[in-house]
Amino acid sequence: MPNRKTFLTHFWKEKKMVGAMSPSSKYLAAKMLESIDFKTTKIIIELGPGTGVFTKRILEKMQDDAILYVFELNPSFYQSLCEKITDSRVKILHESAENLNQFLAEHEFGQVDVIVSSLPLSNFPNALRTSILQAAHDALRINGQYIQFQYSLQSKKLLRSFFKEMSIDFTAINFPPAFVYRCQKIE
Ligand SMILES: C[S@@+](CC[C@H](N)C(=O)[O-])C[C@H]1O[C@@H](n2cnc3c(N)ncnc32)[C@H](O)[C@@H]1O
Repeated sequence: MPNRKTFLTHFWKEKKMVGAMSPSSKYLAAKMLESIDFKTTKIIIELGPGTGVFTKRILEKMQDDAILYVFELNPSFYQSLCEKITDSRVKILHESAENLNQFLAEHEFGQVDVIVSSLPLSNFPNALRTSILQAAHDALRINGQYIQFQYSLQSKKLLRSFFKEMSIDFTAINFPPAFVYRCQKIE
């Protein structure tokens, strides 16, 4: 299980940034993506791909003319993703999620349909999580989705302050068990 070993190594080095001891399960990946209509989704952003569990699933499902931007701050995960994933529909960025809007403005493309986030929000200082969620909300089109997993319900109030439309799902088949927040931009 090289992915699990890599993850654990980074977890011990940078607990707050990595936020998990092992990659997410395929069951969590399926729950994260089940509300996305890939037929109509053209611009997808992934925040915190780690070893790429969700990235690979998104690439399997997305259309040929869709584009996926992934933001990974950890240099080793970033490097390994660049080596593993060569699909021309994905752009892998060694960038913090908080620079999302600056990146979008520089590249002048339309609004984002879906943001899939694995960021360990509860480990971040309040100013950082607020600025990331504001950037994500600004980047999305109306009715666009922000999908986030967390290991607790601690982020519920914060997410609801940005996204009035929200539902919460859960899977026990993950280590640790995880909550999936599905948020929609309505205004
Ligand atoms: C809990 S791990 C999830 C990894 C993977 N998506 C999974 O589910 O197995 C969180 C990931 O977010 C990345 N990360 C943390 N802070 C970040 C930031 N500000 N911008 C982009 N990525 C960040 C970490 O390096 C790590 O890869």
